[in-house]
Amino acid sequence: MGKYYLDMEKYKQLARQAVAEGCVLLKNENNTLPVKKGETVSVFGRIQLNYYKSGTGSGGLVNTRYVTGILDALRQEKEIHVNEELAAVYEKWCEGHPFDKGKGWGQEPWSQEEMPLPDNVAKRAAQISDVALVIIGRTAGEDQDTKAEPGSYLLTEEEEAMIRTVSRHFTRTAVLLNVGNIIDMKWVETCKPSAVLYVWQGGMEGGSGVADVLTGRVNPCGRLSDTIARSIEDYPSSSCFGDQYRNFYTEDIYVGYRYFETTAKDKVLYPFGFGLSYTHFSMETLEFAEDSDSVSLKIAVANEGEFPGRQVVQVYVNPPQGVLGKPLRSLASFAKTRVLMPGEKEELPFTIWKKELASYDDSGATGHKSCYVLEEGTYRFFAGEDVRSAALCGSFTQPELKVTQQLEEALAPVTPFFRLKPEAVCGKKTAEEADDSLELEMGKEAVPLRTISLADRIRENRPEAAACSGDKGITLGDVYDKKAELDEFLSQLTDEDLACIVRGEGMCSPKVTPGTAGAFGGVTDRLKDFGIPVGCCADGPSGIRMDCGTHAFSLPNGTCLACTFNEALVEALFEMEGLELRRNRVDLLLGPGMNIHRNPLNGRNFEYFSEDPYLTGKMAAAQLKGMGKAGTSGTIKHFAGNNQEFSRNLADSVISERALREIYLKGFEIAVKEGGAISIMSTYGPVNGLWTAGSYDLLTTILRKEWGFDGLVMTDWWAKMNDEGQDGDTRNTAAMVRGQNDVYMVVSDAASNSAQDNTLEGLADGRITRGELLRSARNICSVLMRLPVMDRFLNRISEEELKEQRESAGEDAQFLDLKYQEVDRDTPLDISGISTEKGASSVLGVKLLHQGIYAIQIKARCDAGELAQVPMSIFMNHGVVITFTINGTQGEWVVRSSDLGEFRFPHQYLKFYFGQSGLELGEVRMILKEELQ
Ligand code: BGC
Repeated sequence: MGKYYLDMEKYKQLARQAVAEGCVLLKNENNTLPVKKGETVSVFGRIQLNYYKSGTGSGGLVNTRYVTGILDALRQEKEIHVNEELAAVYEKWCEGHPFDKGKGWGQEPWSQEEMPLPDNVAKRAAQISDVALVIIGRTAGEDQDTKAEPGSYLLTEEEEAMIRTVSRHFTRTAVLLNVGNIIDMKWVETCKPSAVLYVWQGGMEGGSGVADVLTGRVNPCGRLSDTIARSIEDYPSSSCFGDQYRNFYTEDIYVGYRYFETTAKDKVLYPFGFGLSYTHFSMETLEFAEDSDSVSLKIAVANEGEFPGRQVVQVYVNPPQGVLGKPLRSLASFAKTRVLMPGEKEELPFTIWKKELASYDDSGATGHKSCYVLEEGTYRFFAGEDVRSAALCGSFTQPELKVTQQLEEALAPVTPFFRLKPEAVCGKKTAEEADDSLELEMGKEAVPLRTISLADRIRENRPEAAACSGDKGITLGDVYDKKAELDEFLSQLTDEDLACIVRGEGMCSPKVTPGTAGAFGGVTDRLKDFGIPVGCCADGPSGIRMDCGTHAFSLPNGTCLACTFNEALVEALFEMEGLELRRNRVDLLLGPGMNIHRNPLNGRNFEYFSEDPYLTGKMAAAQLKGMGKAGTSGTIKHFAGNNQEFSRNLADSVISERALREIYLKGFEIAVKEGGAISIMSTYGPVNGLWTAGSYDLLTTILRKEWGFDGLVMTDWWAKMNDEGQDGDTRNTAAMVRGQNDVYMVVSDAASNSAQDNTLEGLADGRITRGELLRSARNICSVLMRLPVMDRFLNRISEEELKEQRESAGEDAQFLDLKYQEVDRDTPLDISGISTEKGASSVLGVKLLHQGIYAIQIKARCDAGELAQVPMSIFMNHGVVITFTINGTQGEWVVRSSDLGEFRFPHQYLKFYFGQSGLELGEVRMILKEELQ
């Protein structure tokens, strides 16, 4: 086994463990769970047959070889039984009510029609089984926010009726929530199930992980990564979420529990960090010590119950209110015990750096504008199993205000608005004097606006440029081998070359692994001749998306991973992901997604982790460290403020500088500084008036200058950029380069400037300089040299690794070295390599010269008699388009045709599958039926 061998069994096991550890048990009365040996389980809800492995859009498009749903996994259990009589009722009903996929991108419904549950069916099930499981499912995703209505955020009447009916007949009813993100939970009080378990969307091993929890092999140890409030209106962001043009983030830093624990405790149904176990634990603070830089704690956890299990210890800080105002709780650290046997104890050490407790002064109220400061006063620490029950475990006093970091004003808003601020700041009361039940009244203050000149800042910091030296024969390989300097190498590139290198190609560029989202680096012949390889990046947070149908591993979703509170597990899982990327010749994953769960209705929350930036940052850093072990990496996204899907390329997020730094950028900062991120994706939309893909303060002042990021930034796919005060435009790459977003994703042909960008125009009229272009070229090339593509390009991948790649790819191996045929208006395809033997499948790559609606026409014959049936299926990308069943033609040629669909991108994949031998293919043509602009 080589250094980069991917052990699939280990991969599955880790994914399964992550699903199990991510499950959050909210209620468990009457000993409902676990299901005991010998018991029979009745499973209700149509989702038992339609398990959601992930949400929709780019974050969910993984072609898996299988998906194990909850019912599938329960059926594999040897020691418990499934009520098959009931399962048959659902199977029959679902035949007449198939899963509705919707039509097209972002159109899959949030939920599926539920089977109306007759009382007698539930009654009968209760007579012949011991426990009921009711599965509720939800999805959402890109371009499709969740809606605060039945069937989306709320349960439907049918679903509530089902839970009520089942709960009436069973004393043990567990509702399992197969959802991407938290949903409304008021129904728990009215429908009264005896147990509730969030099982999230667990990827292809999802059902198996859930079964581990249901049977008690894994004791629930997941904790909520979001606060569940009574009603969606209770979230402070709800009143300023979902606008088409502009959303003012008036709640400021009071996001999630930072708001509820400060001012609205009674609105919480389940607090952040909450989750039950089949056992119970005690917690004791053994040590609390402080020095000038840090606080250290030792906490002992003992398993006092009857089940082995793991506990999560969460440490929160309550800083003094000072003049800035602070949330009464902020997560400062967390750790998970190993599996503790009944009676066993573990001591967990914590070190918390004081500088990480500092607040950002964006107004100058402390006398230190644009600084992180530790205000004077008492810093109290609380440890426990969730934010609400965490108990005081120590404190230190900061004798006087301390500036921990002097920064510069950056990305401040330009539009006036007001934000929440605790009244206590006005001196009415001090939080540290009060007891733990204290709540603060919220007042308002005007948000400080931008005072600097962005244009001056950009002009004053323009990089110097060396003139083009002409081709001196230096390749990037020479730089890689330390025979030349990067800047010397880059100075050989002409302005035209530089304009090309900032163009990424996709979707499905033929220059990289088929079906992937993007190619970057040596995308033109000239760049390639300079030895610049083409790096490959592929979606996404839940596993590798290859639209041609190549199979990949589908992972548990972001929310589920965050709820594990287990960094080591996430790192180990993503080491496997990193190896899988490498095996597929993908260098960068387009993930993790790490936007803050600002509001539960954001459609992409399933891809993201939490409402808390610290937990978010730690999870992303763990993933990056894991992938890094395989030499690959991730692309942390979407930087920043991508907190709603509706109008995502237009709606301006208006956010204070403090909220940006403490909440919306903090996770990214952790991923850069601790996780070693080398690739970042900006967003579709603007923050404070500037589309992020050209936002200098975001991408240069904060990201590079303050955080020391040394890597590349790419746009989101077909994103817009703007000059301040103007509208966003996909062609404004001059603004992109000036802001130091290095790669525009994506164009179909970099060499011909197919997307008509304005880079060279901007260079000619002085909007950008050669120095700025060189800066991006440097970022791109230096990242390429840190990825496997460099060795691939130089043919330095070991024979052993190549052999393992081929062996493990199985039938997908045909994608590894795919060639593309050009298709004009009516084109016969070269089918010489196609085998028509039974079970054979062959893939053809095609490059469509026109955008439009295409059809396929085949000419075939079969020597057999009329009753012979010879099926042949045609797949376009990975979906079946048509199956022609050709009867024996007694040697005569027959022609069949079918529409293939509408295609906007040139590179596509046709696959032929033969269900029987005996067919001879004479000709296959692709015909353009209608050209589209
Ligand atoms: C998404 C990105 C994704 C990209 C490539 C965009 O629509 O917003 O997250 O990585 O497509 O598929």
